Amino acid sequence: MKILVLNGPNLNMLGLREPSIYGAQSYADLVAFVQQSAQELAVQADVRQSNYEGELVTWIQQARGQFDAIVINPAAYTHTSVAILDALLAVNLPAVEVHLSDVSAREAFRQVSYCALACQTVIAGQGFAGYREAIKFLVAS
Ligand code: DQA
Repeated sequence: MKILVLNGPNLNMLGLREPSIYGAQSYADLVAFVQQSAQELAVQADVRQSNYEGELVTWIQQARGQFDAIVINPAAYTHTSVAILDALLAVNLPAVEVHLSDVSAREAFRQVSYCALACQTVIAGQGFAGYREAIKFLVAS
């Protein structure tokens, strides 16, 4: 099984950005964690990050025929991007939305997700472990 793991804007700043919310570990640590989890769960993961909405849309479009499923932390685009929602609907691959923080317990605007409308489930508030849970979910479904 091949899984595309996408990360949206500012996740490259992990470790530096609001560590009380997102933790002290870096984006490189996240990539290593996801790769380790993928190996343990016997799947292949391609882990990418972009600060550009259009690049994320293009990667989702290109996933068709290349990947079996998508794990996506759209970061701030979660709450704004109809384009990412439409791309996920277009490719129609099984997808899981992940958030490091518990978005349901934060500002009202973070409680709205367009992307979730195209995802099987949303995993939030588990830090890095949420990515592992997302891969597990996709392997089991
Ligand atoms: C986030 C939550 C979003 O609201 C925020 O804009 C992010 C990160 C998370 O992983 O908790 O950049 O997706």
